[in-house]
Parts: sequence; structure tokens; C-alpha cells
Amino acid sequence: MRNILITGANRGLGSELAAEAAARGYQVWAGARDANCSGEKLQALQEQYPGQVHVLQLDVTDENSVKNAFEKLGGRIEALDVIVNNAAILLGRDQKLEDFELELVDRQIRTNLYGPMLVLKYGVPLLGKGNGQAIINISSEAGSMAGAYAGDYGYALSKSALNMFTAQLRSAYGRKGYAVYAVHPGWIKTDMGGNAAPGEASESAAGIMDLAERKRGEIEGEFFVNHLGEPMKL
Ligand SMILES: NC(=O)c1ccc[n+]([C@@H]2O[C@H](COP(=O)([O-])OP(=O)(O)OC[C@H]3O[C@@H](n4cnc5c(N)ncnc54)[C@H](OP(=O)(O)O)[C@@H]3O)[C@@H](O)[C@H]2O)c1
Repeated sequence: MRNILITGANRGLGSELAAEAAARGYQVWAGARDANCSGEKLQALQEQYPGQVHVLQLDVTDENSVKNAFEKLGGRIEALDVIVNNAAILLGRDQKLEDFELELVDRQIRTNLYGPMLVLKYGVPLLGKGNGQAIINISSEAGSMAGAYAGDYGYALSKSALNMFTAQLRSAYGRKGYAVYAVHPGWIKTDMGGNAAPGEASESAAGIMDLAERKRGEIEGEFFVNHLGEPMKL
């Protein structure tokens, strides 16, 4: 059975990714920063797929938590096949430049950029033993310089830098045959996206799993794509 690790899997897109991966027969390692309060969706998945969905305490901003999570994982499985860096925060939504707080920028960069970096720091050894590997960093159109808008400064910067990190990963691991993508999931209905969003997280999750399984996109094509595998402007 293939193994997938998803960060921030307790709600939103992360929980839909966990559901999609479980339905496709993966052993799902669902990262949640509070493993004791992992969300109704994950609990329901654990009942629907007995023994197939495992909650892993994983706060992407805490290096010890990331290290411990991979130590535990290494004790349970021989190899990991897919890592999805999904966990992220969006703070200070309506703040003007004159009002923005560096502390909020810092928190977003710690979560949205340093988080995926830490996860891969500890995750790549196990991933190296997998098959048909994929590294999927959930990015955003907010990180596109071509589509830059005035606002969400910290969030946009964190996603733009995540795109750069993904380009570096493509360079390092693409040549080993890994599928490596920064994926804009679309504007989707979640706590972050809000109810007015046109997209469904479940549809986005299906597209992202297709990318991870090489059913969409080209592993040597553009690395910054949407959930349909269509290239995004950097
Ligand atoms: N929704 C959209 O329209 C949209 C558009 C573009 C990109 N995205 C991207 O899509 C991804 C998923 O977003 P979403 O809409 O599902 O957001 P969401 O509903 O706000 O969920 C965010 C998830 O990230 C987790 N998280 C936050 N900080 C964490 C940390 N330090 N350690 C571990 N987990 C943490 C949250 O856990 P807690 O429950 O513990 O807070 C939650 O599970 C993100 O990367 C986001 O930037 C979303």
C-alpha cells in the first residue's frame, strides 16, 4: 500500500486530500497540530477506512514536532511515497501596507515557507525509499508575481518564496523522477477561502491527487500549476 503524508489534514483542503487519498487506497498519515482534536472529518475517515488513516501530531512551525513525527513514521513504515505540504495560514487579510504588522508576516512565513522546508528536511530520507514519489507544495495564485495584487503581503510573499523552494526541489528531485509541483488549488470553499468561493475542496483534492499520481501534468513540464495541471504564471 502506498503511503502519503499530508500536513494540516484536520480540516479544509487537507481533510479532502486525506479522503481522496484514502479512497484511492493509500495509507494516509494525516498531520494535525493538535492530534487530540483532529476534526470530525478525520474521525469519520478513520471509521470509514479502518486501519488506513492515521493521525500524526505535526505542527509545521515546531522543528521538534516535525522531527518526532518522522521518527514515529519511520518506526511504522519502510517508505513514504507522497508528501503534500498543505498546512498554511492567511493573516491580516484586509490590512493596508501602512498598518501591517511584521509579526504577522513572520508567522505566515514560518508556517507557509519554513513549514514545508522542515517537513522535507526530515521527510526526504523516507521519501527516498518510496516509489513513484511526489512532492506537492500547496501554493496560491497570491504567490504569482505576474498576478501580484495590493494586499495579503505576508501570505503572498510566503507563497512566492514557496514557489522558489519548489523550483529548487524540482531541480534536486525532478531528476530522480519525482513529481514536484507547487499547486494553486483554486479559490475553494474552506475556512480560508470562505463560503463565496466558487470551487469545491473535494474537486481540487482529486486534481491534486491526479498530479501526484502523474495522471495530469507532466513531471518535466511547468512546476507551478493549478489543480487541473494547467501552468500558472510565476
Ligand atoms: N481556500 C482557498 O481558496 C485557497 C486558495 C489558494 C491557496 N490555498 C492554500 O490551500 C491550502 C489549504 O488551505 P485551506 O483553504 O484548507 O485552509 P484552512 O481551511 O484555513 O486550513 C488550514 C489547515 O492548515 C493547518 N495549519 C495551520 N497552521 C499549522 C501548523 N503550524 N501546523 C500544522 N497545521 C497547520 C490548520 O490546522 P488547525 O485546524 O490546527 O488550524 C488547517 O488544518 C493552504 O496551503 C492555502 O494557502 C487555499
